[in-house]
Amino acid sequence: MCGIFGYIGNSNALKIIMNGLRKLEYRGYDSTGVALLVNNKLYIKKSIGNINTLNNKLHYDNHLSILKQANIGLGHTRWATNGKVTVRNAHPQVDYTKSFSIVHNGIIENYNDLKYTLLQKKYSFKSQTDTEVIINLVLEHYNGDLFNSVQQTLSYLRGSYAIGILCKYDTQRILCAKKDSPLIIGIGNGENFLASDVYALLPYTNKMIFLENGDIAELYKNNIKIKKQDGTDKELNICVIQDSVNINLSNKTQYKYFMLKEIYEQPDTIKNTYENLLNNTTQIIMKLNNIQKIYILGCGTAYYAGYVAKFWFEQFTKIPIEVDIASEFYYRSLILNSNTLVILISQSGETADTLAALRFTKTKQCISIAICNTFKSSISCEATYVLYTSCGIEIGVASTKAFTSQLTALFILSLGLGLQTQQITKQQYTQYLDELYQIPDKAKTILQNIEGIKKIAKVFMRKKNVLYLGRYINYPIALEGALKLKEVSYIHAEGCATGEIKHGTIALIDNTIPVLVILTKGKTYKKTLINIEEIQARQSLAVILTNNINTSLIKKIHYVISVPQTIELLSPILNVIPLQLLAYFTATFLKHNVDQPRNLAKSVTVE
Ligand code: F6R
Repeated sequence: MCGIFGYIGNSNALKIIMNGLRKLEYRGYDSTGVALLVNNKLYIKKSIGNINTLNNKLHYDNHLSILKQANIGLGHTRWATNGKVTVRNAHPQVDYTKSFSIVHNGIIENYNDLKYTLLQKKYSFKSQTDTEVIINLVLEHYNGDLFNSVQQTLSYLRGSYAIGILCKYDTQRILCAKKDSPLIIGIGNGENFLASDVYALLPYTNKMIFLENGDIAELYKNNIKIKKQDGTDKELNICVIQDSVNINLSNKTQYKYFMLKEIYEQPDTIKNTYENLLNNTTQIIMKLNNIQKIYILGCGTAYYAGYVAKFWFEQFTKIPIEVDIASEFYYRSLILNSNTLVILISQSGETADTLAALRFTKTKQCISIAICNTFKSSISCEATYVLYTSCGIEIGVASTKAFTSQLTALFILSLGLGLQTQQITKQQYTQYLDELYQIPDKAKTILQNIEGIKKIAKVFMRKKNVLYLGRYINYPIALEGALKLKEVSYIHAEGCATGEIKHGTIALIDNTIPVLVILTKGKTYKKTLINIEEIQARQSLAVILTNNINTSLIKKIHYVISVPQTIELLSPILNVIPLQLLAYFTATFLKHNVDQPRNLAKSVTVE
């Protein structure tokens, strides 16, 4: 959570930092702040709320003309972990003498112990944050050498951090360091940058250094030095980011919200993922030998992608497979070894629960494949192999295009493994790929017919509860549809296996609860029809999402959402799109900011 942006050079640091923070706002938006150094003085400006709120506040700030002179500074956009959402808890934080300032993304696990020690030494604290402890430790160790005091401070910290530090006695550099939270240096001409992700840097430079765990970096206007935590020098490992990380994708253009733009990008993002992954997947699969068990792990939407994929791996590979929520996996007593393949799914590649699960499986010598959307993210770097989904950045907090690309990647991977293990023939492999190839065009037709979905959204917006039902491979889609609705509209929604409702959940059903049922042609069709009868007998308002509507059904149903035909195995990729739109329209009719739903952040870097 939290986004960091830093600048040192000759230009207006405030302007550059505010622009950078806008790109990082998806990482957290409950409070924002900047620290600027002008004439050996530190100026800290903070506000509750998102960047716009701080921007408006700065407009009336007495120091605005001075702030605009700053050529060095740091900014932060926060998703609260330690301490409530208050101005005091917002970053940048300062030491009690107000000589040093810090922005931080991560969590310091032992901050209470460290704080206690500092309190004994008469240090005082104004916030409830762990970050304020770090910066007071920097003061405690300062003897005129900022690098030295940061280096010593880090040796006391347990937990994760990406930090940027300014000091009013040392005005020609920004110190930064990283452990288990992302931090990237952007190399400019006579200026250098610091950010939590690539996209915030791309408007300024495509030359970047991805800091590694334990790195401490010094950013000067015309120079960068990186040292290991023991103080020894490191070579600068400069990456040039290619065009494939498309900058345009991060502009909203004609869409009101990124979420809608990202829903509409899906025909392209599915196609790009398909085209970019076919070869890469084959190369990885050739390296896999004697896999006896597969675990798919992820959180939230990514977990649901894994849940769909479980059915593909079962059918194509016949290798025993389980899917689990990453944060639950660690507690199980499992036999894990070098014949275990672990597939980690993560859009951000920074989700702490998924990263922790990956690290745990590495201690058991498991082989891992990360399905990630973020280049050089922690999960993609730490897994044995990585398959990148080609979505471009996903900014809307509710995951949409990443989900369908994850499904595309997983389908290709499961097919490839099926072919390698000779559980499917080359002909079947090609036929399934052909079906997948047609999905983007079919997705387009869904996106061209949204009026019916808007009508249903007008109904949903007045309800307190909604039930989503799906069976077999569309059960996870019911879960995902419910998750989408609740996270952006704040309407309670529950996903349930269609056949399971009669074992309890049906008690909820009456004429106040709409029930959306996924009815897909295939082996679940007939039984689902029976379940629909049961629901209707309870006077519920029924919405059917189907690729095979028959006339007798139409008469009985209140609302129908039609999707194009495909094979049952691929139906989840199409079925989820109307559910994303339904969540979007319901929430926007309720006037919610769907790109920044309350209490959420795009990248969840705490366990
Ligand atoms: C829901 C959503 C979350 C994420 C989850 C995992 O719309 O976005 O449930 O899917 O937090 O995030 P990643 O994929 O970044 O690991």
